[in-house]
Amino acid sequence: GLVNTREMFKKAINGGYAIPAFNFNNMEQLQAIITAAANTKSPVILQVSKGARKYANQTLLRYMAQGAVEFAKELGWEHPQIVLHLDHGDSFELCKSCCDFGFSSVMIDGSALPYDENVALTKKVVEYAHQFDVTVEGELGVLAGVEDEVASEESHYTRPEEVIDFTTKTGVDSLAISIGTSHGAYKFKPEQCTRDPKTGRLIPPPLAFDVLDAIMVKLPGFPIVLHGSSSVPQEYVDIINKYGGKLPNAVGIPEDQLRKASKSAVCKINIDSDSRLAFTAGVRETLALHPEYFDPRQYCGKAREYMIDLYTHKIKDVLGSDGKA
Ligand code: G3H
Ligand code: 13P
Ligand code: NA
Ligand code: ZN
Repeated sequence: GLVNTREMFKKAINGGYAIPAFNFNNMEQLQAIITAAANTKSPVILQVSKGARKYANQTLLRYMAQGAVEFAKELGWEHPQIVLHLDHGDSFELCKSCCDFGFSSVMIDGSALPYDENVALTKKVVEYAHQFDVTVEGELGVLAGVEDEVASEESHYTRPEEVIDFTTKTGVDSLAISIGTSHGAYKFKPEQCTRDPKTGRLIPPPLAFDVLDAIMVKLPGFPIVLHGSSSVPQEYVDIINKYGGKLPNAVGIPEDQLRKASKSAVCKINIDSDSRLAFTAGVRETLALHPEYFDPRQYCGKAREYMIDLYTHKIKDVLGSDGKA
């Protein structure tokens, strides 16, 4: 069956790699994630967001994830290590419902609340979840918002001086931090970046590894999570733009930064936007090249191929989780 994150994170920290946490909203994404994980024997975290629950229905997603364990075995993966995780839970009731309905892990994201309220809410979720051996991710620090002036002004890095108090008081199993990543395909404004003189492409500022280091000094061996870690691969952006799309100045986190983070106590790396880009590239390309197509299996099939390539690349070439399950 599904597993929680506890053993997975311990092994990842000791082994100097990170577990991929991929969001899914539909069957093709799930098939692609499981195919890539089974082919590479990588532990994997399937994430369900609030938006995913609204789009696809929590019950359906839950049975799909439970079915994915059987699918993984059919693909020849003897001992699948698959987590079903609630992404960005925003209330005790939601986290409780996921614990009650077979999720093996939940995130309670109280990062936008005043510190004491974040502590109280997170502690309440941990106390409930641990009765069912469901692991809990909390968050400290606010990620910059997508094209949201107000939110990005209020964004701030995790304060290393808070992490011991937070993890001790709440009992969380892992801690999501803010060190310069953000959600979406536009992680930095062009004016925050430099430009490659040859290609004209944006080069983003580096992540705050000094803040990560300070957190790791306070919490030796404690599992750290990075949200907003899509790299926004130029190849997919180029395909999308070539076939009628319009994604100007899309920019993500360079993969060498994620490679570096994976070797540290960062043991869960969240990737959603890259999958959306691969999917959209496959659909746009197929429909542009074959105007006569009208069977969704034709363009969703191509989208699925692109996502399998993407997930496999992340596992083997960036996070280093291949062969660990
Ligand atoms: O945290 C953001 C994830 O990429 C999920 O996004 O809420 O649009 O499904 P979503
Ligand atoms: P991206 O938008 O960078 O893929 O981040 C996803 C994420 O953090 C989901 O929680
Ligand atoms: Na790691
Ligand atoms: Zn996130």
